[in-house]
Amino acid sequence: MADHSELISKAFENNERWIAEKEATNKEFFKHLAEGQSPEILYIGCSDSRATAEDLMGAKPGQVFVHRNIANVVGSADLNTLSVIEYAIGHLQVKHVVVCGHYYCGGVKAAMQAQDLGVLNPWLRYIRDVYRIHHNELDAIADEDQRYRRLVELNVEEQCINVIKTAVLQKSFVRTGTPTVHGWVFDMRSGRLIDLKIDFEKKLKDIREIYDLGAG
Ligand code: CO
Repeated sequence: MADHSELISKAFENNERWIAEKEATNKEFFKHLAEGQSPEILYIGCSDSRATAEDLMGAKPGQVFVHRNIANVVGSADLNTLSVIEYAIGHLQVKHVVVCGHYYCGGVKAAMQAQDLGVLNPWLRYIRDVYRIHHNELDAIADEDQRYRRLVELNVEEQCINVIKTAVLQKSFVRTGTPTVHGWVFDMRSGRLIDLKIDFEKKLKDIREIYDLGAG
């Protein structure tokens, strides 16, 4: 017997209401939407159902190109994320890339535990690698909750660096001075977005000695 999900059964009714609301403020809303997109922001966030993308920053349809996966990871051989970055920067020419993590992230929590999670192991290894890079700082934090929060922040920072390592970002930045990369954390206990104030240009300069892909 199938489960009668209230959201599933109401989705189409909700959709009709949403259309009416959009058209009430702008009769041409959907006509414009169909004409194409030129988003200013590429948002890379966690798939967590509580950490929505557009909603929490008040963005409208057409403004943000969104990619979400477990623990907002930018893997060096993940064709999915890398294709999103390539398309967003190389073709849509977004002006900003946001990597947004969140406290209470199950993916980050899982990576802090000694357990075999099957096919999730290689994915969580990206986060374990972040732990390894920063283990001196993290191991010095006695409180486990604080250590967990700090790993969420450091994971955002490292994933920002992974965005900066891509050729498409380096070439675009040398040519046009954009995009800028931002690291944010969503604190769902307060609902607040926190800017980690990552010094993007310094990070870019720091990694180029090793990761320069010939952008000039
Ligand atoms: Co998460």
